[in-house]
Amino acid sequence: MPGSTLTPAALDRLRELLDRRRAAIVDAGTDWITAQSLDLQGRRPRAETRMLVDREFDAYRALLIDGDPTIRDAFVEFTTTLRATAEFRISTLLRGFLCFRRGVEAILESEALDAEARLEIIRALDEAYFDTAFVMADVYAAKLLEVLQRTQEQLMQREKLAALGGLVAGVAHEINTPMGVAVTAASLLRDRLRGLAADFEGGQLRKRALGDFLRDADEAAALTLGNLERASELVASFKQVAVDQSHASRRRLRLGPYIRETLASLTPLYKRTPHRLALALDDAIEAELDPGAISQILTNLIQNALSHAFDDAQAGTITITLARVGDQRAALTVADDGRGLSPEERRRIFEPFFTTRRGSGGSGLGMHIVHNLVSEALGGVIRVDSAPGEGTAVRIEIPLAPAPASASASASTSGPAA
Ligand SMILES: Nc1ncnc2c1ncn2[C@@H]1O[C@H](COP(=O)(O)OP(=O)(O)OP(=O)(O)O)[C@@H](O)[C@H]1O
Ligand SMILES: [Mg+2]
Repeated sequence: MPGSTLTPAALDRLRELLDRRRAAIVDAGTDWITAQSLDLQGRRPRAETRMLVDREFDAYRALLIDGDPTIRDAFVEFTTTLRATAEFRISTLLRGFLCFRRGVEAILESEALDAEARLEIIRALDEAYFDTAFVMADVYAAKLLEVLQRTQEQLMQREKLAALGGLVAGVAHEINTPMGVAVTAASLLRDRLRGLAADFEGGQLRKRALGDFLRDADEAAALTLGNLERASELVASFKQVAVDQSHASRRRLRLGPYIRETLASLTPLYKRTPHRLALALDDAIEAELDPGAISQILTNLIQNALSHAFDDAQAGTITITLARVGDQRAALTVADDGRGLSPEERRRIFEPFFTTRRGSGGSGLGMHIVHNLVSEALGGVIRVDSAPGEGTAVRIEIPLAPAPASASASASTSGPAA
């Protein structure tokens, strides 16, 4: 404990010195810090600086003379709270805590003390200073960490909002195209209808013109209908993007059998293809989660493998694996031995509206929805391992029981499949 190294004689001398020359020590310390702290100079009035040095004096006096660190600790708390905004450097704080030692040093010069007593006092001051520096570094680092965590949460929130904004703009853009075509086709139909009505009223309607009209009208109606259907599909998949986070549908179940059931319901998707599914499921794994999320994820991943991974000539295999990861987590992997993803595709696969099938039914929302389901509904993480010609493996790791607080989530893409 600082102060305890002082001999009784030196302790008496130091106490006497501190009490008799308090004002002079505080003044000298204030002079020193004013000259030192370039970042504060001119900004803080001298009286205010002196008040801080005065509080510091009390803190050190209690520490050195009474062996009591409580005033010092309270002062450390006070100064670090003021500054835990990452705007101040810790060196500034440390320099602040040095001014008591500097103040005493300056006054010692004018005191008639023998060299040994002087040395003893200086040593005690050094020890007290180092002890304070360690305490302060710990407290300050803990506070900075708190500030960082808060900032990170805010940034993540902001990022989510920005992503949502982008999504809304994307949806508007995507829906605009089919709606535009539908409107054009419908107004074409109306114009042709008006022409037909005019011909009819003027008694000029020919059989041939009626035949042309019927053909054009059928085309226009088909175009309108097809594009409206496309728009409503987009709206439907967009609705899935906003994953339902209410835990009403959460229940405890054995994952293996549930996955088998889901895959059985998908049979029509691949029955008439040369492709096959291979299963390696640990049937003992139980989890408490929303099973709807699991089946939606599986549906999207199987659909993707079937429509993107294989060319027509190929007979592909989709392997679905479920395994335990430690005590608390499970890994669900859907892997195909198809064409694999280019680095660009792998990087962008979770982006809303990223698709290589625009114009032939792809909305590019599938993997975005999967990502949201994994991170939001299941509190897990998702990773895609793939390289051109080496197939694609989507690995999902989820907790077997819901996290007590808000679940953390992240996504990453990484190296080629093994
Ligand atoms: N198993 C896979 N093999 C090869 N490419 C894939 C695979 N899965 C996804 N992709 C690529 O990633 C893109 C994005 O997939 P995503 O599921 O998000 O959209 P999509 O399937 O094109 O459209 P949607 O799922 O909305 O109908 C696909 O267009 C495809 O290029
Ligand atoms: Mg898809």
